[in-house]
Amino acid sequence: MAVRAVEWLDGAVPAVRLLDQTRLPDTEAHLEAADVETLIDAIRRLAVRGAPALGAVGALGVVVAMAQGAREGWDDARLHEEIGRLRAARPTAVNLAWAVDRMLPLVPQGHAAVLAEARRVVAEDEIANRRLSQLGADWLLERCPRRPLRVLTHCNTGSLATVAWGTALGVVRELHARGLLEIVHVDETRPLLQGSRLTAWELQADGIDHVVQVDSAAPGAILRGLVDAVVIGADRIAANGDTANKVGSVGLALACADAGVPFVVAAPWSTVDLATPDGAGIVIEERDAAEVVSWGGVATAPAGSRAFNPAFDVTPARLIDAVTTEHGVVEPKIRPDMRAVHQPA
Ligand code: MRU
Repeated sequence: MAVRAVEWLDGAVPAVRLLDQTRLPDTEAHLEAADVETLIDAIRRLAVRGAPALGAVGALGVVVAMAQGAREGWDDARLHEEIGRLRAARPTAVNLAWAVDRMLPLVPQGHAAVLAEARRVVAEDEIANRRLSQLGADWLLERCPRRPLRVLTHCNTGSLATVAWGTALGVVRELHARGLLEIVHVDETRPLLQGSRLTAWELQADGIDHVVQVDSAAPGAILRGLVDAVVIGADRIAANGDTANKVGSVGLALACADAGVPFVVAAPWSTVDLATPDGAGIVIEERDAAEVVSWGGVATAPAGSRAFNPAFDVTPARLIDAVTTEHGVVEPKIRPDMRAVHQPA
């Protein structure tokens, strides 16, 4: 699928072009962000989302901030304040801060140097995703005897969540390309429906057979033997392998552990945060109650109901069979140390 969630628009007023994911699957509309405030708003509304896509926006966003600063006469302090606001627009996916931090040392060298580095971040993401998908597919095919495979996934981890191809959905695409995929069980992913709105949209475009299921159907499907593996993405992976991902992930891992079904995390190395020793140190974004107690502006709970709305949860390393990255596969259940990445022969 050739869809691009994040693109760079070079011109007199440079901008980042985003496919507005809040409007999918009904409408394919783009928005252009030529200033920091518009970018932050797009990130917070989830017009652009998914950890690697946020990394791309963070990298290109620093260039946007520099161009805006030049137009509006910002001094260095103001420029760094605005870049800091962009870096903090969402707290859990480490790729956003990682990408901004990668740009910072180049800022004194000017626009061209920062843009060149941002383009490298963008290009590297697609390469990483394709590689980690191959390694993840190899790992799964070694562990799972059934052919073709039935895979369950959660949230959206495809082209829309990355620069291109995808992470967990990249593994799915790789299995499909090898003719070894039967069906994908797509969790709808409450409350914002990234699974049904976005993942099903991508799979349909690629002609990959799938069923959309309510999130609460997933543990039962795993225990009934309806899936051979669960593959999810990640927003931040701590040094010991504890993994923050879309809320609902940890329930899948618990069901997999009970049923003996492989539970696999697929993520580029830019999502690995070796500075955070374990999941306790990962900040979990809490989102607006309205996402839980209403849909499309219509109340789904009595007026005045309060909500608990963590956007992510943390799956402990002890429940994760494999983390596939472009540098190799780690098996946290056996050795909870992301530094123990296994380089393929
Ligand atoms: O809130 P979102 O939609 O940004 O959450 C996205 C996820 O949890 C993804 O699984 C994760 O970022 C990996 S995307 C390749």
